[in-house]
Amino acid sequence: MNDDIRLGVESIDTKHDEFITILSKIKTCKSKDFLPLFLDMIEHTKKHFSMEEEIMNTTNFYDKKEHFDEHETMLNEMLYFYEKAKKMPLFGKSYINDYAYEKFKRHVLNVDSQLTMFLKKKGNL
Ligand SMILES: [Fe+2]
Ligand SMILES: [Fe+2]
Repeated sequence: MNDDIRLGVESIDTKHDEFITILSKIKTCKSKDFLPLFLDMIEHTKKHFSMEEEIMNTTNFYDKKEHFDEHETMLNEMLYFYEKAKKMPLFGKSYINDYAYEKFKRHVLNVDSQLTMFLKKKGNL
């Protein structure tokens, strides 16, 4: 996970760095810590998304509907895999190991980047 996904808006980059830290912890944790850390990741994502949504609301971001929708989809997906992982740990592990980061990175590069570009243009960091 060494890709450069920094967008140049500190509050948002910090949330993204924290997410990556939690994700790497889950990847290497002991089995008993898997679900609690997975839940931490979900809680962190809720805060991360609501922070971005607040920025979009206060700055009247032109594309907020699509961005909000994608947040909802991503969060629902995480919750779905978390619930599945309770009964089928391997299912949860494969989501964490093979899918979660790619999904996150795609959102940052395709969706969050539009927001940060907008904020920079507005001079609203
Ligand atoms: Fe984000
Ligand atoms: Fe976002």
